[in-house]
Amino acid sequence: MPSIFFVEPDGTEQQVDVEPGTSVMMAAQQHGIEGIVADCGGACSCATCHVYVEERLQGRFAPVGSFEDELLDTTACERLPNSRLSCQLTMSDETDGVRIEVPESQM
Ligand code: FES
Repeated sequence: MPSIFFVEPDGTEQQVDVEPGTSVMMAAQQHGIEGIVADCGGACSCATCHVYVEERLQGRFAPVGSFEDELLDTTACERLPNSRLSCQLTMSDETDGVRIEVPESQM
C-alpha cells in the first residue's frame, strides 16, 4: 500500500497509507489534511488542491494536462516547477513514499 508524507506549511509531517489508484487530493480529504481545500471535488476546475511534489518522484506521476496547466497559473501560492493539482495525482507503488508539501494558502 503506497504511502504519502504530507508536509504542512508549519513543517508538521503526516504519513498516510492509501490504496493504489487513490488521488493525493482524496487521500488528504480522507485523512483530515488541512490546507487542501478541493472545492470542485476533483473535477480539475478549482485549483484549490494545489501542492508541491517532491522532485525525486515527480516524473512518476502522469504529466500535467492542459486544463491542469491553465489552472496552475491561477493558484493562490506561487506556481513552482514542482506544482501540481493533487486531484490529478494518482498514487501507485511507483510513487510510494512521496513527500507532498501543502502550500500556505489555496484562496
Ligand atoms: S480539486 Fe478542484 S482542481 Fe483539484
